[in-house]
Amino acid sequence: MKKINVGLIGGGFMGKAHSLAYSAVPMFFWPTEIMPVKHTIAEFTDKMAEEAATRFGFENSTSNWKSIVENPDIDLVDIATPNNSHAEIAIAALAAGKNVICEKPLARTVEEAAAMYAAARESKAVNMVAFNYRRTPAVALAKKYIDEGAIGKITNFRATYLQDWSADPNSPLSWRFQKSVAGSGAVGDILTHVLDMARYLAGEVTEVSAITNHIITERPLQQSGSDSLGNSKGGADAPKGPVDVEDEVMSLLKFASGAIGSVEATRNAWGRNNFITLEIHGSEGSIYFNYENRDELQVCFKSDEGDRRGFRTVYTGPNHPNGAALWPIPALGIGYGETKIIEAHDLFTAIAGGEPVRPDFGDGYQVALIDDAILKSAATGQWTKVPQLDRATGQVSA
Ligand SMILES: NC(=O)c1ccc[n+]([C@@H]2O[C@H](COP(=O)([O-])OP(=O)(O)OC[C@H]3O[C@@H](n4cnc5c(N)ncnc54)[C@H](O)[C@@H]3O)[C@@H](O)[C@H]2O)c1
Repeated sequence: MKKINVGLIGGGFMGKAHSLAYSAVPMFFWPTEIMPVKHTIAEFTDKMAEEAATRFGFENSTSNWKSIVENPDIDLVDIATPNNSHAEIAIAALAAGKNVICEKPLARTVEEAAAMYAAARESKAVNMVAFNYRRTPAVALAKKYIDEGAIGKITNFRATYLQDWSADPNSPLSWRFQKSVAGSGAVGDILTHVLDMARYLAGEVTEVSAITNHIITERPLQQSGSDSLGNSKGGADAPKGPVDVEDEVMSLLKFASGAIGSVEATRNAWGRNNFITLEIHGSEGSIYFNYENRDELQVCFKSDEGDRRGFRTVYTGPNHPNGAALWPIPALGIGYGETKIIEAHDLFTAIAGGEPVRPDFGDGYQVALIDDAILKSAATGQWTKVPQLDRATGQVSA
């Protein structure tokens, strides 16, 4: 059995999710040739790193992420820090020959994403970007149905990602509201997940027409380092700082296939918590998915008798993608953690020389190109073409 020593950088929300996945992969995907070892975790200070190591089960801790990149015993560098450090860490790790998984969005800007993709092309190591929602079994089942032609030629793709954790103007000015750290607001933070699934399910996006809205222009300064996603309050009288990223985005899309679509994202929609919806219409049927009911995929097939035609619900289970590894009967409850367990398993499989893993840095770069086009379109009010990455040459079309 091959041990894979993991060096995890960042012990916040994603540090927790990835640590859970590293412990759980062999429990679910068994028998396995690969055994993850939680080798070292990095946080800002020694004290934070030691606490994270105890909490998440790492053998070692450090306040210097470079010591993880330089450690010859580490096989995989996991980047779970805010977006402003993704490029520096990933490029250093790839140069040191490490396999890398980087949280989304790949980078703050298209330029940073291009540099990360170039470093990945130079390296023989495995690289992955953590768009985990496509690994929800029901989303993978939608992909299977589409690939099998069950809904025919896709004509329309529409998706939302609606949350409300930042709707309260008194929730603090975390890194997610600072352009210098996050790169963008709702676009980079959550629309990217939907754009990843748009590409996964409906193919390349070639042109966009977008609008954004900036609703809350200042927030109370945050007292601590990690983002609490609206769960702490700065108070109406606390000193405030400026928010310089968009709160909401809506965009029309044109796909290379000729399909059309729309995507929208906001973190300010009261009552919507993690409302990721996908609706895909094809010549032979339709698919609907809502992450808040993530065991369920709704499908409607034209071939059904007219008096029976309508959406039916398929509960994902052992007969569906990754189902055999998860729980023994459908509808037991797929969680966020499962998406990260499947993600880690697929990453380890690639590291062990098996099936190459997607989405990789090329995919993260293409999503960054779409983000950039969306932000440009919103600024100019014009339909904007999305440059296309040619994965064979590494070049991007004008
Ligand atoms: N895939 C998903 O569903 C998903 C969900 C949430 C966040 N994310 C992404 O994950 C990344 C991290 O987000 P989060 O929610 O975990 O943030 P967070 O604020 O909860 O945690 C980030 C942690 O990184 C630490 N950190 C920052 N810089 C560091 C450095 N140089 N060295 C060591 N530690 C450092 C911070 O102290 C903090 O504990 C972001 O890129 C975010 O966009 C992805």
